[in-house]
Amino acid sequence: MENFNFYAPTYFAFGKDRESDCGQLVKRFGGSKVLIHFGGGSVVRSGLLDRVKESLIKESIPFLELGGVKPNPRSGLVYEGIDLCRKENIDFVLAVGGGSVIDSAKAIAAGTVYDGDFWDFYEGKEVTKALPIGTVLTIAAAGSEGSPDSVITREEGMLKRGASGEAYRPRFSVLNPALTETLPAYQTACGVTDIIAHLYERYLTNTKNVEVTDRMIEALILAMVNEAPKVMANPHDYDARANIMWGGMMAHNNSCGVGRTQDWTSHTVEHELSALYDCAHGAGLAVTMPAVFRYTYKHDVLRFAQIAVRVWGCQMDFNNPEATALAGIQALQNFLVSIGMPKNFAELGADEKDIEKLAYTCCFGDGSASGKVCGFTTLEQKDVEAIYRLML
Ligand code: NZQ
Ligand code: ZN
Repeated sequence: MENFNFYAPTYFAFGKDRESDCGQLVKRFGGSKVLIHFGGGSVVRSGLLDRVKESLIKESIPFLELGGVKPNPRSGLVYEGIDLCRKENIDFVLAVGGGSVIDSAKAIAAGTVYDGDFWDFYEGKEVTKALPIGTVLTIAAAGSEGSPDSVITREEGMLKRGASGEAYRPRFSVLNPALTETLPAYQTACGVTDIIAHLYERYLTNTKNVEVTDRMIEALILAMVNEAPKVMANPHDYDARANIMWGGMMAHNNSCGVGRTQDWTSHTVEHELSALYDCAHGAGLAVTMPAVFRYTYKHDVLRFAQIAVRVWGCQMDFNNPEATALAGIQALQNFLVSIGMPKNFAELGADEKDIEKLAYTCCFGDGSASGKVCGFTTLEQKDVEAIYRLML
């Protein structure tokens, strides 16, 4: 196991009706004037936004609202939010929504207290300072409610890039599983897929002897495979939703990723798809993961065989471990298809003619990227192109 630091100080308020604690939580973490940030309207329709506002009013905390965050959140609204926070002396950003809303809130929080262009953080500058952030989560998926990360799409060139830093960890996150009951089945499945992807990205490591984190990851994937079909069958299964919501947080706050190298190839390759086609991140991952894994499994056949046996119930073929590894990848894909996820470019709405461009942007971006995708393996543009072709 490698040396590591782990500091994940987010306060979680978990369970039914916990959004009514927002006012007290903002106070506890030092907010005196709040920007409530939200998406395209689901929180208005569900009444959640009103309940959050009531809770702030009860504590006499003034607030402003900025809605309209789109999935795959854009830089334009971030600039708008930064201007608003500066003009109105906002000192706390409260995200009410999914990963896109939370990521946009994080970018606003960092940009407000930074002299330069917030996009610098999305080109590699570490986020060391930001306004404090709180979240009320409405979809179990991205894990942004407990992560030090944010992903934003810059309209110019449609570049989707991530930024990180401890200042991006939310001070508090309200996790009420009942809030996810209004999700369309497709979005629920996209969320489960993203959670599983966050676990695979950590499982695919070049560090030896990391048994505790291996076993934690395996347990969390098994839990998702067990709970997701229950929610697909009955969207009001509170306990299954609760398990998925806490699992989504655990999958990405890095408690399962410490002390080991991580992969992130599937995410890097997928981000080009959701940037270009505006598909849901989870749906993009459902198509990307099997292709990446089929392309890279020979790098460590036994690791893929291990997850095939321990998670997917495959029989170990000692004479042909490659067959076991491939059976595990197929079992993952079968599971994702069974919950309604796409399995190829066509089902995702992607186009074969864009492959060269996708591979180029993935490796070189706007000129700032290194030309390689590094993680479990090191891939060049030709490899990334071959992976996109495996998705046809
Ligand atoms: O905008 P509204 O109207 O709220 O609708 C949203 C949106 O259309 C809807 N929705 C959310 N909660 C709902 C609901 N509809 C009904 N009832 C509810 N309770 O669902 C749609 C998707 O929302 P979004 O926030 O985009 O989903 P998700 O949480 O999957 O976030 C995806 C974004 O997170 C990034 C992705 O790249 C993508 O941009 N990621 C962020 C990470 C991080 N910050 O740590 C890590 C991830 O790997 C990921 O890359
Ligand atoms: Zn993800």
